[in-house]
Amino acid sequence: MIQTNNIIDSFAKDIALGLSDNPKYLSSKYFYNTEGDKLFQKIMAMPEYYLTNAEDEILSKQSNLIRKSFGNQPIDIIELGAGDGSKTKHLLNNLIEHKVEVRYIPSDISPNILEELKSNLSKEIPSLEVIPLTGDYFKSLVELPDCKDRKRVMLYLGANIGNLERKEASNFLRQLQQFLKKGDQIMIGFDLKKNPQTILDAYNDAQGFTAAFNLNLLKRINEELGGNFDTDAFTHWERYNPETGSARSYLVSKRKQSVTIEALETTFTFEPWETIRMELSQKYSQSDIEQLSTSAGYKVVQHFFDSKKYFVDSLWEY
Ligand SMILES: C[S@@+](CC[C@H](N)C(=O)[O-])C[C@H]1O[C@@H](n2cnc3c(N)ncnc32)[C@H](O)[C@@H]1O
Repeated sequence: MIQTNNIIDSFAKDIALGLSDNPKYLSSKYFYNTEGDKLFQKIMAMPEYYLTNAEDEILSKQSNLIRKSFGNQPIDIIELGAGDGSKTKHLLNNLIEHKVEVRYIPSDISPNILEELKSNLSKEIPSLEVIPLTGDYFKSLVELPDCKDRKRVMLYLGANIGNLERKEASNFLRQLQQFLKKGDQIMIGFDLKKNPQTILDAYNDAQGFTAAFNLNLLKRINEELGGNFDTDAFTHWERYNPETGSARSYLVSKRKQSVTIEALETTFTFEPWETIRMELSQKYSQSDIEQLSTSAGYKVVQHFFDSKKYFVDSLWEY
């Protein structure tokens, strides 16, 4: 579907901004169309992508402890960028089994993955009330149901926060406070600094799913904005800097080339080996996390680590 020129939406605007910049960049929030959702599920299932198993272990083995840290009043669990919710289900099951009065409000930019999540939950936890919200984080949160007499607990799992630069992460978490009252909580999944090779391997998989996930955004631009990217003319490159904790993916142009995007009425040129910066996956130490919590105006309640200390779900109070 090619979008007309007078309906240039935020997708088109962001693509235009990113490809006009020097160096070029594209936002990873646009990775998640139907094909991107499928590729991300394949990535989560890869042995190299340790993040999924580590967080799954935390949420399955420590769900009693986590539930108790929420307190025992009625709760709205609001999940930001919920994806397929596969790990969150452990916690939701535990809350239901212990008769906590809970509503689950997953939000995601991808309508497709929210449909899948809602349909799976209606089979797996039929007594759970689910209120999905589709859209970019802050646009969807304005539709949150009223929460009189209920505590809000936000979940921001899967190291989604790692897609933000550290300063942006602090601002983002502070902005969330407009949807929280004092005593409400937020639990954030952070990928921890570890052996650099382990981190690099997670994003450099032998099967090429991460490369396909990045290249899929070029395909999406072709399909939705009438672009003519030749995806074979780009290669995926991953880099991890243990000093800053940033893992970054790039697409690199293998030759000099021009790409025209009809909806933008613009042609972008690429020099040989010119880069497009794609996704940031920021890694944290425990002290980085504690500093972030203070700078964003929260108090750490508890850190829930996996047994290898690869990952932490950190619970904070506003
Ligand atoms: C890395 S996946 C993690 C999914 C899930 N939290 C998990 O741990 O399995 C990121 C999810 O966040 C969603 N997402 C990314 N950027 C978003 C944004 N700006 N607003 C809302 N959702 C977003 C994506 O569609 C995707 O489902």
